[in-house]
Amino acid sequence: MANTVIIGMQWGDEGKGKIVDLLCPAFDAVARYQGGNNAGHTVRFGDSHFALHFIPSGVLHPQMRCVLGNGMVFNPDAFFEELEGLAGHGIDWTGRLFVSDRAHLLLPAHIELDGARERARGADRIGTTARGIGPAYETKISRFGVRVGEIIGGSGDSRLDALVRRLGDELAQLDASRPDADALTALCRGWGARLEPMVRDTAQLLNGWIDDGLAVLFEGAQGTLLDVDHGTYPYVTSSNSTAGGVCTGTGVPPKRLSGVLGILKAYTTRVGRGPFPAELTDERGDFLRERGNEFGTTTGRPRRCGWLDTVVARYSQMINGVDSIALTKLDVLDTFEEIKICTAYRIGDRETTEFPSTLEEIAAAEPQYETVPGWKAPTDGILEFDDLPAEARDYVRLAEELVGAPIGLVSTSPRREETIVRTGAGLEPLTSDRLDRVIARRDGE
Ligand code: IMP
Repeated sequence: MANTVIIGMQWGDEGKGKIVDLLCPAFDAVARYQGGNNAGHTVRFGDSHFALHFIPSGVLHPQMRCVLGNGMVFNPDAFFEELEGLAGHGIDWTGRLFVSDRAHLLLPAHIELDGARERARGADRIGTTARGIGPAYETKISRFGVRVGEIIGGSGDSRLDALVRRLGDELAQLDASRPDADALTALCRGWGARLEPMVRDTAQLLNGWIDDGLAVLFEGAQGTLLDVDHGTYPYVTSSNSTAGGVCTGTGVPPKRLSGVLGILKAYTTRVGRGPFPAELTDERGDFLRERGNEFGTTTGRPRRCGWLDTVVARYSQMINGVDSIALTKLDVLDTFEEIKICTAYRIGDRETTEFPSTLEEIAAAEPQYETVPGWKAPTDGILEFDDLPAEARDYVRLAEELVGAPIGLVSTSPRREETIVRTGAGLEPLTSDRLDRVIARRDGE
């Protein structure tokens, strides 16, 4: 697992930030490959915690080189704001934080457009994070986009004008005001000058580091079911958040990737609109939300909550080729008398364990549950799998069996040190000395 991909196996918010933070001692570099500042990773350091939306959470570890890859959409204002926040916490990123020259610019007009479109959709809105992500990817795909490398030295000025005109036309149609092209050009000049020391051909950088024997962690944002191709379209984000996105989003080829670690929450959440078969709309859902603190890191919105859905997780296992799973937030289930786990869907008169592709089928899916006894005992702070209550061990084993991949890490609290590491459960590719470093870090050595 020298070059490891971290993927969310549900609809995002699986707790990727904590796991990335835990694993950083085993890596030399971290790269994000898709999305923008729609992500929200909460990372705790001692008593303080940070919400990072943009910059990989690995930046908190001084040995880590950090890359924002070409597959991202790049909002310079949000980036600089986050840098200032990091500086305020004494984090020095100088010389180790790099932005791809091929990442696409996300302009204030993209954000305006995201809001105007959502308003125009009315009841059919997606429930986006209102960060301009969809419109920015759209300009990229329609080949009107401007890339980060092009605002350095003003080489992209004429294309910027064309882009601003185009965005302005659409905004005007939606009764929103047109952006000021001159003001935007001036803004881009300022951004370009500030960004220049950090902008690189990051595909060259990453491949060069791998040539030199460095280990890279690829940090996915959002989750598999939010992937624009494999997710619950159209209630998805606009990028490929699955493992396939790593190669296109960084320029690192498939054969250089060594393993995939899937992050799976012990229950399911979703923020924004769209289908969610195992959703609980009763007091059990409210309980999971309160106990699991399920409120968006980026937007503060309450997350919808439900039981663990292994139809979803098995699908993610297949799409991403998950070698090992980090099961997070097990402690949130500590007080339940009984716990349900979705094993299949009934759609009309057929039962299936395959995740359907159309909204109609997903909406018609009746989750089929297996009910297991709860453990009714605190699990936070337990570091050995064998010390978990028997019912909790059985829950983990049942999830492994249903999802079809071993669970190598079990997280029982937001704190990095409270994670069970199950050597042997698919984590073998994390070579033993590197895994030792993770365990030593967990134990505060
Ligand atoms: P967008 O990415 O802002 O366009 O939002 C599209 C959908 O993805 C919405 O349902 C958002 O709530 C969801 N989404 C985007 N980023 C995240 C995330 O980091 N966690 C969870 N949901 C997200």
